[in-house]
Amino acid sequence: MKPENSEKERVLSGMQPTGNLHFGRYFGAVKNWVDLQAAYDCYYCIVDYHAMTMPYKPANLRASTWNGIFGLIACGIEPRNLFIQSWVPEHAELTWILSCFASYGEVQRMTQFKDKSQQVAEKDKEAFISVGLFTYPVLQAADILIYKPKYVPVGKDQEQHLELTRNIAIRFNQQVGKEILPVPEALFTEIPKVMSTADPSRKMSASLGDKHNINVFADPDQIRKQIRTAVTDTGTETSSAMSPGVANLFSLLKASGQTETYAELKSRYEDQSLKYAELKEVVAEALVRVSAPMREKMDHIQANKKEYKEMIRASSESIRKRAKHNLDQIKDACGLMITS
Ligand code: TRP
Repeated sequence: MKPENSEKERVLSGMQPTGNLHFGRYFGAVKNWVDLQAAYDCYYCIVDYHAMTMPYKPANLRASTWNGIFGLIACGIEPRNLFIQSWVPEHAELTWILSCFASYGEVQRMTQFKDKSQQVAEKDKEAFISVGLFTYPVLQAADILIYKPKYVPVGKDQEQHLELTRNIAIRFNQQVGKEILPVPEALFTEIPKVMSTADPSRKMSASLGDKHNINVFADPDQIRKQIRTAVTDTGTETSSAMSPGVANLFSLLKASGQTETYAELKSRYEDQSLKYAELKEVVAEALVRVSAPMREKMDHIQANKKEYKEMIRASSESIRKRAKHNLDQIKDACGLMITS
């Protein structure tokens, strides 16, 4: 069983097994997960049950799940903190239990369901909206509450789901008359908003297409090329009144750990002006530097897939023991039969 680390507070988060790991996702979520490992007892999962809530291809799901796992390990998530949701089917069992403590009215108010069901309907007239998409946030509550974490690092878009999770925990405790489920808190960290370099009015995202996102595992020349073609502004010289594209380049620079300001960068050059081409070179090199160790680690993982899969199988098994233990406590509290 994954040992309960009594000195460190527990953190849990999940991520969908969607394809390509780009810099927006890395700076926006993954880097934060990596950094939290030093101070917290972390549980991170790839949520493959959640990936079934929208129309999807069964034949591709497992590959995307492993892709997600390998990407996280390459970025610095320790395998012992990482698991695959469907290897811990207790999440699904707890979903049923919690669905009986979730208010229908409240689940109906989830804006993500409204957005996603609209997406499904617009994309394909024949497609249906699944009940799974509706109960998605209850599965998320189960992911969280089964490990009794103190914090859940998520983006602001997940605030409503976290509030639902808290309400479910409070209602459960009230109904069973015991404080079985600690009420978790969202951990919102300040994250840089990374925009598409091809269209800086939109967020960097995999779904917009190849030119709208830069893969963290891309080779250096690909990264340089994508930054070189970034939309900046007309003219060749930068000015302190920044266009969205230029501001985005500075955000990328800052996210890469390079804190030079516009004035400082300018003073690097003899004529005290900063050309777009020069700024882009600085940004590209910063991204190449940040991603070099991750690319190297990914090569290593790709050459040793079997070993890494085995590590995740083992960590999932050990985390599952913890989940089973907590689930039995929950079942006992609500009057169900328990297995041990
Ligand atoms: N819904 C989350 C997202 O879209 C993913 C997720 C699933 C999650 N289960 C979770 C996040 C548990 C935090 C905790 O980003």
